[in-house]
Amino acid sequence: MNPLRKLFPEQASTIAGDVDLLFYALCAMSIVMTLLLGGLIFTFAVRYRRRKPEYSPMRGVGVNHEDMKRIEYVWIGVPLIVFLGIFYWGAKLFAAMNVAPADATPVYVVGKQWMWKLQHVSGHREINELHVPVGRPTKLVMTSEDVIHSFYVPAFRLKTDVLPGRYTTMWFTPTKTGEYPLYCAEYCGTKHSQMLGKVIVMELKDFQSWLSQGATDSLAEAGEKLFNELGCQTCHNDKPKARGPDLRGIYNNTITLRGGASIVANEYYLRESILEPQRRIVAGYQPVMPTYVAQLNQEKVIQLIAYIKTLEHPANPAAAPPTTAPAGVPTTSASHSAATGGAPPNLEDVEDGDE
Ligand code: CUA
Repeated sequence: MNPLRKLFPEQASTIAGDVDLLFYALCAMSIVMTLLLGGLIFTFAVRYRRRKPEYSPMRGVGVNHEDMKRIEYVWIGVPLIVFLGIFYWGAKLFAAMNVAPADATPVYVVGKQWMWKLQHVSGHREINELHVPVGRPTKLVMTSEDVIHSFYVPAFRLKTDVLPGRYTTMWFTPTKTGEYPLYCAEYCGTKHSQMLGKVIVMELKDFQSWLSQGATDSLAEAGEKLFNELGCQTCHNDKPKARGPDLRGIYNNTITLRGGASIVANEYYLRESILEPQRRIVAGYQPVMPTYVAQLNQEKVIQLIAYIKTLEHPANPAAAPPTTAPAGVPTTSASHSAATGGAPPNLEDVEDGDE
């Protein structure tokens, strides 16, 4: 590969050009300021060097200038305006990079020593490869199975830490088809340098045919199987004496906790309630739920949450979240009623990171 391409990677996302422009502007400004200040130091050092006392007054050396206010206003005012301008520029770009458009297709990423595991809403799973369509926004929802990793795609000019116990997000719209390197950019152990992958950007129709191959359970369908397998409905049901809250319609609803505080049942709270159920108990229930840390890895937690999101409140079916897939991108069936029985997807099959 051309070594310059490593130094100046391709621009393959909608924000890549803007990031480069800001970066080059900052570099240019630094170079100009370095040359200016270095030049002035050198010039002054020569011009106002120490000489014999009798020369000094004639050349203005050693004369005290009391009233230099105008120049002080300039060197305070100009950098202030320049720095505020850079701040505004950077903040605007930062916001654009961090707020995903509403129609972005989610892909769920789990970092694990030392590999990237990805799940599409359709249920497609990948390791160290991410297939995405060109020209459509994709939003990555990322977490880690163990330590801190960092998802880094230089061609997209994007890098986001992937943290255990938290979901972080990152979004992009690829502008060119092709394969782009994916790196882990946070030292995460012995094989950190081998935690590599690639993002494969495809034409929409190629992506659709890729998605249609090897149809699997969608994320929510896999979640429903887990839900049944783990017997969640034994406690989480609508019977009057149910030991756990009814989960239908709970997603993104505000619920009251024991002690009176309230919380929005978003992905984070659902995740916490599965792995650390004693931490924040819904009002009216006892802290009886055991943790599922041993039974579930992060990918399974994502599947369970995907299923819980689809559970509609019987009185309010309209409250169900809209499908996040953009028009034209097929996700295998959104109906989960047919998916019962059968073995749950064996995620262990695809794990090979341990030696
Ligand atoms: Cu994962 Cu470095």
